[in-house]
Amino acid sequence: MRYGAMKMALILMLVLAGCADDRRAERLAAAGPDPSLDALLTVADANAGARKFAACAACHKATKGSPDMGGPNLYGVYGRPMAQQSARYSYTAALRDAGGRWDARTLDAWIARPQTVVPGTKMIYPGVADPLDRADIIAFLRRQAD
Ligand code: HEC
Repeated sequence: MRYGAMKMALILMLVLAGCADDRRAERLAAAGPDPSLDALLTVADANAGARKFAACAACHKATKGSPDMGGPNLYGVYGRPMAQQSARYSYTAALRDAGGRWDARTLDAWIARPQTVVPGTKMIYPGVADPLDRADIIAFLRRQAD
């Protein structure tokens, strides 16, 4: 391989590697040691969250006007009362009676372990263990709104 082509290939590899981990190390360093949710949200990346939303996409859309699937469409869910997001969707009584609102804190807890936040929910999902992944998904959901 010519030197120029090799250099290009190397740069391309570095760029791809950088994308693959979403500048994770850099962002975690900026958030400081043992970061709080607020600290993570300051370095959260909605574009990374859009990719990580793949973990939710089997059951949810998050674009305007999209239909409900196994779970309700999540467009505009940030800031809304629980279980009022989709008028057509048939929520469990457990979630309807929970009576909370979806903000960063409740979403973070929910995405980590839905069954702990609302026992009896039919969101049968083990949860996203990584705090930065959750913050990225929250940043994405916050962006998916009017
Ligand atoms: C296996 C299917 C499934 C997966 C995967 C899933 N969910 Fe859900 N989700 C549901 C169902 C079902 C409900 C409705 C729960 C109820 O009524 O108790 C729900 C409800 C929700 C709600 C409440 C909506 C409202 O209107 O109050 C949010 C927020 C949510 N999910 C976010 C997520 C996110 C973010 C992910 C990915 C990290 C995810 N879900 C992954 C099935 C799923």
